[in-house]
Amino acid sequence: MRVGVLTGGGDCPGLNAVIRAVTLKGIGERGWDVVGFRNGWHGPLTGSLRPLSPDDVEPILTRGGTILGSSRTNPYAEGGGTERILEVLAAEHVDALIAIGGEDTLGVAERLCREGVNVVGVPKTIDNDLGATDYTFGFDTAVHIATEAIDRLHTTAESHHRALVVEVMGRHAGWIALHSGIAGGASVILVPERPFSIEQVSGWVQSRFEREYAPIVVVSEGAQPDGGAEVLQTGEKDAFGHVRLGGVGQWLADELARRTGKESRAVVLGHTQRGGTPTAYDRVLATRFGLHAVDAVADGDFGTMTALRGTDIVRVPLAEATAELKTVPAERYAEAEVFFG
Ligand code: F6P
Repeated sequence: MRVGVLTGGGDCPGLNAVIRAVTLKGIGERGWDVVGFRNGWHGPLTGSLRPLSPDDVEPILTRGGTILGSSRTNPYAEGGGTERILEVLAAEHVDALIAIGGEDTLGVAERLCREGVNVVGVPKTIDNDLGATDYTFGFDTAVHIATEAIDRLHTTAESHHRALVVEVMGRHAGWIALHSGIAGGASVILVPERPFSIEQVSGWVQSRFEREYAPIVVVSEGAQPDGGAEVLQTGEKDAFGHVRLGGVGQWLADELARRTGKESRAVVLGHTQRGGTPTAYDRVLATRFGLHAVDAVADGDFGTMTALRGTDIVRVPLAEATAELKTVPAERYAEAEVFFG
């Protein structure tokens, strides 16, 4: 059997751990040939692939990014994508694919599977917004990076009696802001799920100053003021129709300075949250997902995705995982609100 693996969408720490687990178990235990398609769905569309050997993958467990490259290529953006992929897989004698990705990559996997391609999905994204799994790998690392940044910003904010606004990733889901904000003792956490009142945020910031503390505001890039809109970096859309967000942190810092009369600064963590070596938690989760994806392929259980439920790895239908984004529930946000102001 010849099995292909690909990584699509925004990269995240732990992708290489999945590739390593799939390759070592696929070759060592199942006797398969394993190949890696380059740059997400661009690989199977164009026939760009490389064989993977144990020697290729042994050293990559701790390495961030993906040795296969990634892209936001959408085979359905133009006509003929499925036919082209089926032709390439037949020409390369690839029997099945393991697609590692988020909502977009796995949405494509789900549709391709309905159209005759043998695919098993593995969930990844720093945003942790994929349905049907308790966690995605990459999230824990991103939260660690953001928390470390918040810890550092506390001391400089205190020294200068300033408000510091930390903008973190999270287009439609505020998981990174929520977890890093709680872990980092933020004065306010703003998420896309809950439009905020700038008067209320300004009041919380003011009250923190009055108690002789420097406020830290953690804001998801997709958060928006009541009656306002997301702040965009550019209106340009990618192949899946996503605009580029960014700028809400600076907008908030300017507004807070104007309303409180105190100095405010904005820090955008951006892609530092996606780079570098994965945490031990993400290495283990990614490795377990890879091992279980091999079993799903061996069982012919296509159209499924590996998922974390409690401490178990289970299989769920790809359709269930991609049906809707997993956003922060109101009760989880309410837990954090106790610490605001
Ligand atoms: O992968 C998800 C994500 O990290 C989002 O949180 C963020 O909005 C987006 O990717 C950034 O994408 P790009 O790498 O294309 O700038």
